[in-house]
Amino acid sequence: MSSNPRTLYDRVGGDIAIAMLVDRFYDRVLKDTELEPYFRHVPMEKLREMQLEFFSAALDGPAHYSGRPIDQVHKGKGITSRQLTRFMTHLLATIQFLKLTEQEVSEMYSRIGLFGDSVIDGSGEDSE
Ligand code: HEM
Repeated sequence: MSSNPRTLYDRVGGDIAIAMLVDRFYDRVLKDTELEPYFRHVPMEKLREMQLEFFSAALDGPAHYSGRPIDQVHKGKGITSRQLTRFMTHLLATIQFLKLTEQEVSEMYSRIGLFGDSVIDGSGEDSE
């Protein structure tokens, strides 16, 4: 704490930056034909709100994540490691819009990436 008084949440620009990030991120995800079908019946307003809380909490911001546990939300949907990689690639591309140092980009990317295993089904191999 004392060695680093500013959280990653502060350094990336707080709620405003993260809300912008979430918007841009899902714009990209919904244009990806491999990912878009997962979101067809999902109320996106609510999802953006939950993701804002989740990202903020993951970056040590003040928000309390009020959504469901990440594994419960995703397991059983048949999400493959390949789809997770695409999702994370969109995240990386979006983060690069923010004015961050390389160090902050990779820190933020890996914080979110930590949850990758809770999202995919099976051994991580693609299944049809
Ligand atoms: C590290 C990766 C990921 C994280 C941290 C993450 C995080 C989240 C969060 C916080 C929610 C909101 C939960 C709630 O409303 O209670 C959510 C919902 C959702 N995510 Fe992810 N997600 C990840 C990867 C993915 C991938 C790869 C896909 C599909 C390709 C996906 C599809 C969905 C869908 C469809 C929902 C809405 C589920 C529903 O409302 O029933 N997610 N995710």
